[in-house]
Amino acid sequence: MRLAGAHVLLTGATGTIGVRLAAELARRGARLTLVARTSAPLVALAGPLGAAVVAADLTDTVRLPDVLRSAEDAHGAVDVLLHNAAIETAGPVAEAHPDDVRATMALNLAAPLELTRLTLPTMLARRRGHVVAVSSLAAVATFPGLALYGASKAGLSAAMAGLRLELRATPVRTTTVELGPVHSSMMDRIEDEALAAASFTRARRLGALPVLDPDVVAPAVVRAVEEDRHRLTLPRRVAPLALLTEAPRAVVRAALTGVRAAQVGAAR
Ligand SMILES: NC(=O)c1ccc[n+]([C@@H]2O[C@H](COP(=O)([O-])OP(=O)(O)OC[C@H]3O[C@@H](n4cnc5c(N)ncnc54)[C@H](OP(=O)(O)O)[C@@H]3O)[C@@H](O)[C@H]2O)c1
Repeated sequence: MRLAGAHVLLTGATGTIGVRLAAELARRGARLTLVARTSAPLVALAGPLGAAVVAADLTDTVRLPDVLRSAEDAHGAVDVLLHNAAIETAGPVAEAHPDDVRATMALNLAAPLELTRLTLPTMLARRRGHVVAVSSLAAVATFPGLALYGASKAGLSAAMAGLRLELRATPVRTTTVELGPVHSSMMDRIEDEALAAASFTRARRLGALPVLDPDVVAPAVVRAVEEDRHRLTLPRRVAPLALLTEAPRAVVRAALTGVRAAQVGAAR
């Protein structure tokens, strides 16, 4: 997807990775709608970028049509839907509050699916669009203390794999980003939780999981969208691990070769 002039709806825009994604996208000439709950940082971020803002709690799924409508009022049809908002909800499942379970699934999984469902008909009608999900290596291999977060991200990655197949006969593209730990306030909060922290300490000792620089992550994500890559795994050294989860999906894709793709776009 050529980003110059494209309308990108970016959720989680004020977080560690979101602010960098917003800057990187603006540098490429994208027109931005930035979404998060808290207005003040959103407005401060948007000003210099000439971006529109929508302050909304994405766990409130009945509000999602309004979020999309506000974005379209500001910049017209959405070309790139970039699902980046998430909460980490670290801690043992046995100690989780029911609100944590609900909020994690609502923000990390239900909201991206619902926003995608709302946005796709226009993308298909215009024969132009790109859906991007910032998922996690926790979708591939989850540490203790991150079971809820991992479950939500595994759902998101699985949904993106299915979506990719549904859209294969259309010009609408998908990119799934699976990130390892990033220097960020989210990672700091995860490391405050004893069970998850112990696992990350072990992984660090083994040199298995270097912590990523968000200034490196954001341009890599934007490049993956520009290049229509369906998957980006960072750090690259764990890409073989991610390939293991890709294997059954590749088998399904191969098995479906020759099977007429669902006429998702063609019917419109
Ligand atoms: N940081 C990491 O180590 C890491 C590793 C792997 C994957 N990731 C993924 O990368 C993405 C970005 O992570 P990050 O570290 O930048 O997160 P972050 O700094 O915690 O930022 C989260 C963003 O989401 C917004 N948000 C939170 N709850 C929301 C809600 N209910 N409704 C709407 N917006 C909400 C926050 O703004 P408000 O609070 O104002 O709403 C903020 O803009 C996430 O999908 C995360 O899972 C991160």
